[in-house]
Amino acid sequence: MAEDQAMLPLNLHEYEAAARAVLPPMAFDYIASGAHDEETVRANRAAFAQWRLLPRMLRGVTEVDISTTVLGQRISMPVLLAPTAFQRQAHPDGELATARAAKAHDTIFAVSTLATTSIEDVAAQAGAWWFQLYVYRDRAIVRELVQRAEAAGASALVVTVDLPRTGRREADERNRFALPPGVVAANFAHLPQREIAKDDAGSALTGYIAAQLDQSLSWKDLEWLAGITKLPIIPKGILAPADARLAFEHGARALIVSNHGGRQLDSAVATLDALPAVAQAAQGRGEIYLDGGIRRGTDVLKALALGARAVLIGRPYVWGLAVGGEAGVSHVLSLLREEIALDLLLCGCAHLSEIDRSFVVPTGPLA
Ligand SMILES: Cc1cc2nc3c(=O)[nH]c(=O)nc-3n(C[C@H](O)[C@H](O)[C@H](O)COP(=O)(O)O)c2cc1C
Repeated sequence: MAEDQAMLPLNLHEYEAAARAVLPPMAFDYIASGAHDEETVRANRAAFAQWRLLPRMLRGVTEVDISTTVLGQRISMPVLLAPTAFQRQAHPDGELATARAAKAHDTIFAVSTLATTSIEDVAAQAGAWWFQLYVYRDRAIVRELVQRAEAAGASALVVTVDLPRTGRREADERNRFALPPGVVAANFAHLPQREIAKDDAGSALTGYIAAQLDQSLSWKDLEWLAGITKLPIIPKGILAPADARLAFEHGARALIVSNHGGRQLDSAVATLDALPAVAQAAQGRGEIYLDGGIRRGTDVLKALALGARAVLIGRPYVWGLAVGGEAGVSHVLSLLREEIALDLLLCGCAHLSEIDRSFVVPTGPLA
């Protein structure tokens, strides 16, 4: 991490450029890329520009409080760290650095099944954390992962539902994506699932996921999971309002509106565009979180205004990790924290709970 503050990136966009300069191209492409034409990667960002904030004036706000709660857990700001695989590929400290930065910021780190540090080692450094589950064909593996996460102190189980197979990320295919030597899926001890072996046909991840994950996953499996754990279940990857209803009918306690950062179905709806209808369909049965394209404090406020309780960031903190390990992740969170606080103040609000639908208007003349 550069000592000189003036050299540090000023915002999350600049972190991407800084990370590009330090990462091997294969790792950079794996993190940055989306599926096919990356329509959804762009749509996630573009959706935020379709809304404008409508600030209120002369409300005498001198102090702002951007803390909130998710599933009853207090966090210092409405931003969590989304599960991202293979963090040791970005920095030797990998998930440990992310866990420490999240803890320092009093927020939650959702640890990926495909972490390159074991559940137990991450838990030893983490504050509050969630475990993100991929459902393997081998249900003994799934049970064991869930039990380990529970025993190690996870406070929720994020079940990713949008990855029966990997979306076709053409950069990874072209690069024949594989993990660098010594970087493994650390949750699988001595099992073959530990190795994401090089595949001369294309991305090693494509074959791994097709071979290992259960493509037959259905709503009844969500109930099965709810039956084997006491942890609240949070499906990640919901876009359709009908699926939001089904999620709560099948035991979800909250859900994440996500399209996997545009890495799965290309041309899938932007998450911010899906959010209002999902929030309406949920009818207050559980909290709604959103990820995809969050890069500014104003993005966070728009998501909150349209029905999200909190948001998650993916790529931006991985860029921070690549650039500066724990300090880089922490700086990314600080930048976002400061933006949210300033933007909330400029909206004329002291608390996030004041941000409702009246604070956003569609782009164009006011009605
Ligand atoms: C490098 C990378 C790895 C990811 N790995 C996982 C994962 O292991 N499990 C998962 O549920 N989502 C994974 N995701 C998706 C993120 O959790 C999240 O949905 C997405 O990154 C949000 O979009 P953003 O990157 O624009 O913030 C990954 C995303 C990236 C960029």
